[in-house]
Amino acid sequence: MANQVQGLDAAAFRSALAQFPSGVTIVTTRGAGGTPYGFTASSFAALSLDPPLILVCLDQGADCFPAFVTAEQFVVNIVTPEHAKLAMKFATKGENKFAHGSFESDENGHPILPDAAAVIRCELEEAVPGGDHVILIGRVRDARIGGGKPVTWYRGDFLHLGESVA
Ligand SMILES: Cc1cc2nc3c(=O)[nH]c(=O)nc-3n(C[C@H](O)[C@H](O)[C@H](O)COP(=O)(O)O)c2cc1C
Repeated sequence: MANQVQGLDAAAFRSALAQFPSGVTIVTTRGAGGTPYGFTASSFAALSLDPPLILVCLDQGADCFPAFVTAEQFVVNIVTPEHAKLAMKFATKGENKFAHGSFESDENGHPILPDAAAVIRCELEEAVPGGDHVILIGRVRDARIGGGKPVTWYRGDFLHLGESVA
């Protein structure tokens, strides 16, 4: 019998979710004492234009969870095809993540990827529980566009952006 989650076929649920392509972000923050934390996230979304709010969902089981829910600020780096391997590092538990990639620090010591498609710096407005995740709501303080185009995540793979069908 199929693995069920609250009466729902878990595999069918995951497959349906995988039908939705997304961008890929590396979300970073700085913990007490200056330790950098980060994770790869495809759950990034715009939330509000005025006030300027974004959201990203973080698994409550993530090692970096305590750092993000107590952070004052965090950074969303929207990554490009050149960052695909780096994004996999940031999706791997126990990895020495910041040994990879060309991170720089902003004036508050938060890691940013200067060659990201966009860098969005936020203050943590609220961390709202959502099932086994928490929704990190960020108030955007600074948003910068980079050079490259964003990468797409679809069915477990990194893809270049498709062509217009309009
Ligand atoms: C493309 C991609 C997107 C991901 N999106 C999310 C996400 O939106 N939220 C999340 O909590 N984990 C997401 N993950 C998994 C985390 O990046 C991964 O579990 C990470 O290692 C968690 O951080 P930790 O190492 O501190 O535990 C994603 C992984 C990949 C490969």
